Amino acid sequence: MKETREALPDLAAMAAYGARVAARLRAGDVVALSGGLGAGKTTLARAILASLGHAGEVPSPTFTIIETYDSPNLRLPVVHADFYRLDHPSELLEIGLDDYREGAALLAEWPDHAGGFAHEAGCLEITLQPAGESGEGGRIAIARGAADWVGRMP
Ligand SMILES: Nc1ncnc2c1ncn2[C@@H]1O[C@H](COP(=O)(O)OP(=O)(O)OP(=O)(O)O)[C@@H](O)[C@H]1O
Ligand SMILES: [Mg+2]
Repeated sequence: MKETREALPDLAAMAAYGARVAARLRAGDVVALSGGLGAGKTTLARAILASLGHAGEVPSPTFTIIETYDSPNLRLPVVHADFYRLDHPSELLEIGLDDYREGAALLAEWPDHAGGFAHEAGCLEITLQPAGESGEGGRIAIARGAADWVGRMP
């Protein structure tokens, strides 16, 4: 498993990093976005979506759990999920996550609440940590790619 670290001192750096992930993203992939409350998971998901060609709003899926993006402007369809509110990974069956994921890339916040995705070959795990005492230095992104990400790490 390959690991990279990237300093993201501000929102511009976050946008550029999101663009690099987006450029490498394929249907079937999952970008598992970890980090505590306010770590920047939604911010990075928005940057990835914008770079894929999405022009409109990207509401946080905190309450809906799943938001789908499949306009023809997008380079590929995207499912944006926030699994924070899941009580158990088995709830994914009721939600029908696998059906949503067909032909799409998944951007998943709180992936551990969904049982994790690291066992999937297309999984790119990105953990966002605060840089500095309370994040005043921005964020650090630690990325770990599964087998399918060899040679295309952001
Ligand atoms: N690289 C960065 N440098 C400085 N501030 C950042 C950076 N990335 C994100 N932020 C800021 O951090 C705040 C929280 O971001 P965000 O909502 O994306 O977090 P989150 O991880 O999705 O939180 P939650 O766990 O509640 O879903 C926002 O105000 C955002 O502007
Ligand atoms: Mg969020």
